[in-house]
Formats: sequence, C-alpha cells, structure tokens
Amino acid sequence: MQQKQMQIYAFDMNCVGHINHGLWTHPRDRSLHYTDLDYWVDLARTAERGKLDGIFLADIVGVYDVYKGSPGPVIEAGAQIPVNDPLMPISAMAYATQNLGFGVTVNTTYEPPFLLARRMSTLDHLTKGRIGWNIVTGYLDSAARAMGFEQLPEHDQRYDAAEEYLEILYKLWEASWDDGAVVCDKSRAVFADPSKVRAVSHAGKYYRMEGIHLSQPSPQRTPLLFQAGASARGQDFAARHAECVFIATPSPQAAKPTVDVLRRKAELNGRGAEALRVLSLVTVVVGRTEKEAQGKLEDYRRHASVEASLAHYSASTGVDFSKYGPDDPIEQTSTNANQSALAAITKEASRPVTLRQITDQMVLGSRMKPIVGSPEQVADRLAEWVSQGGVDGFNLARTVAPESLRDFVDLVVPVLQERGLFKADYAEGPLRQKLFGGSGRLPSSHPAAAFRT
Ligand SMILES: Cc1cc2nc3c(=O)[nH]c(=O)nc-3n(C[C@H](O)[C@H](O)[C@H](O)COP(=O)(O)O)c2cc1C
Repeated sequence: MQQKQMQIYAFDMNCVGHINHGLWTHPRDRSLHYTDLDYWVDLARTAERGKLDGIFLADIVGVYDVYKGSPGPVIEAGAQIPVNDPLMPISAMAYATQNLGFGVTVNTTYEPPFLLARRMSTLDHLTKGRIGWNIVTGYLDSAARAMGFEQLPEHDQRYDAAEEYLEILYKLWEASWDDGAVVCDKSRAVFADPSKVRAVSHAGKYYRMEGIHLSQPSPQRTPLLFQAGASARGQDFAARHAECVFIATPSPQAAKPTVDVLRRKAELNGRGAEALRVLSLVTVVVGRTEKEAQGKLEDYRRHASVEASLAHYSASTGVDFSKYGPDDPIEQTSTNANQSALAAITKEASRPVTLRQITDQMVLGSRMKPIVGSPEQVADRLAEWVSQGGVDGFNLARTVAPESLRDFVDLVVPVLQERGLFKADYAEGPLRQKLFGGSGRLPSSHPAAAFRT
C-alpha cells in the first residue's frame, strides 16, 4: 500500500519572536534581520530546497497586554511586537522560487472584504497561483481598541461575520469576471468584454457592498483556504470553508478527536473527509545523533523565555496567568479569546492543570514541547502523528532561525523521502493543484462554487 505523504510548511512570522520566545537572543539566531528581504528570500530558498509545501506566515493585529495587564513584558521580549505586514515579503520570496507555496494570515474583522479580495488576487497573480490565505477572526481586545472599537466582537459573532465576509469574497473571486472575459485583442483595441464582467452585491447583517472585482481572474481565483480556529464554532466554520486546517495539540492522541470531528463535519457539509487536510503545529530540534540533538536542546533552552511565553499564552486564552501561584489549578472559565487554547488546559484536560505544569512544558519558550532526536527518531515521531493522530502534515515552528529550518531540510527531509513519507519533488500547477490534484480551482463541492456564474 502506498504511504500517505505529509504536507510540511515552515511556520514563521514577520517579527523577531514568533512562538518559541527568547530564542532570538541565541548567538546564531538571525531573526533580528526580519526587516531585510534577504532574510525572507534565504528562508524561501531553503524551504524550496527541502521540497516543503510552503511557508506559512502567522500574523497578529494588536499587542499582548493581558499578562500583568500590560504590554510591557512582550515589548521587552520582542514577542510578536514589533510585527510587520505578512503579505509584503511574499512577492520577493515568490520571485526567488518556482514551486514553494505561501499561506498568509489575514484577519477578517478589521478590513473590508473588497480590498482584501484585490490584495489576495494580486498575490495569486504574482506568485503564479501559489498563494493561500489563513482566515482568522482575531482574539485581542487591544486590536479592537486600536481599530476604533470598544472591544472585540463576541466569539461566535466573529465567525458569523466571517461567513458573510467569505460570501462576498467568493462572489468577487469566482463570479465577477467570467473565464474568457479578458481578451487582450490589440487589433480591435478591446482589453476585456464588458458583457462578461459584472458587479456583485451583498446585503447582509454585517456587510453591504456592490462592486466589480478590481483584479482580473488569477490562476486559482480563490486562494487556497487555511483556517486555524478549533472551538466548536471554529470547527463548523473550518468544515464548511477550509481546505487546510491548522491545529495545535500536545500529542497525536490529543489531535485524533479534533481531526475526526473536522473530517466528519466536512462530510456532513457534502465535501468529503478528504477535502480537508489537517496540519499540526510542531517544534523539532534535530541533530545528526540523539546526543547532538539533546546538546542542541540544552544550548537553545538557556535562551528561552518562560515569561514571554506566559504573556503570549495569557493573550491567547484571555487569562492573566500572573495572578496564579505555581500550584494553583487554572480555573475553568469561558473566554472571548481563543476558546480552544483555554479548553486544552481546563475542561478538556484529564485533570486540573497548574501553572507549574504549564511552565514546565515551556522548554523552548512556548507551550509546545519540542520533538528532539536524531533524523530517524524525528521521522518516527512525525509518522506517529500521521498514523495515530490522523493529521496530514505539519507546520514547523522555528527555534533558532534559520538554523532550525536548515537542519530539518538537511537531516529530516531525506529520511522522510527515503521512507516514502514525503515527496521527492513538487507536482505541477498552482498550489491547490499541487496538494489536491484537479485544476487549481476550488472543487464543485466547495460552497464557493455555488456563486459561479
Ligand atoms: C493553531 C492556531 C494558530 C493560530 N494562528 C493565528 C494567527 O496567526 N493569527 C491570529 O490572529 N489568530 C490565530 N489563531 C486564532 C484563531 O484563528 C481564532 O481566531 C481563535 O483561535 C479563536 O477561535 P477558536 O476559539 O475557534 O479557537 C490561531 C489559532 C490556532 C488554534
């Protein structure tokens, strides 16, 4: 039987400290160069050398000010602040590569859909169909205040608004310009046929608009759709819209129920379980031998910041962890922030979790325990995630950058390829076609297809 091949992305962010906080202080770390295109182009070339499916860029609008009721701890630690626009480096990375895909996070809550539609279409043109969009709705009150609102809209309402937002985007991307609308006939001086171009409109609870999409059809039209919310409402949204879902669970066993629910919900939506690819967040520290990897871990962990990690986690969950003593159990509360992140340490945990148990896991400055070992051991663990957790692949969090990506590409990728667990080369066509086959356009089972003319 042919083995399932993993999808693998390099997970990054246009900032100094992404997930594994404090590691920018390591002497070999180069993430302080995030303001230079050279840094991003080098990263993209390394990822493509390793045949990675893409670079996945997180983003945040707002600052983490829940911990100690202040943004001070994250400003001091460079933890996702400052953070530059994630879309900007993509053109340069696309120019330097031929096959690498890009997943980019953009929040639906603070930007009119009409403008985002054009930015995504522009990138789909410039990348020759290699762009994906990670749809997020935000979880920070600080962002809402910065954008002129009193506070973040309520959790489920954010998803309701995002449903409408997507409907508008689908209309713009799939229905405003027909195939064949652009004729480019120099002899008749006709660029496009007006009878094949139309304004789309929407009048809903959250959005009203009417307009012709500003961009001509791009290779994929709708970018590949990623999503990263794991609450019940988030899963419903993912099962309807997403093609790749990003989850963060501590083990394959913990991932399995989420993966099963997502696939079942996708089936109920008439999309088929295979329409969804689930990617797990992992941190890998690999050496040529287990001993070398353990040595690297010890070296890295001397630079990790538990304080910055707690500040990040406080913002994600909406719980100020500075108010807890080391052995106090974390209370089961409801949150308007990231419900799945909080559930993971309260009601879904098999026993009450204490602050000490959380900080004990923050080996590298994040709440994800790293996979550490020789290339073969890392490959074994990743294979377990696929066989036991049912995931389709991984988003690799950086540790010491770009060393961690180079190590993965040089040491782990060849082992995965040898075992038939990872592709030897890229497939043809736009990103969606590389991952799912087909034409590069959304399949007819996707809700966007209903808006096609
Ligand atoms: C693994 C994972 C990664 C996420 N990455 C981002 C991100 O880069 N930017 C962002 O604003 N939100 C991010 N989120 C937040 C979600 O998109 C969502 O807004 C939040 O989790 C609340 O939804 P939930 O309660 O359904 O999980 C992420 C969530 C998860 C679970």
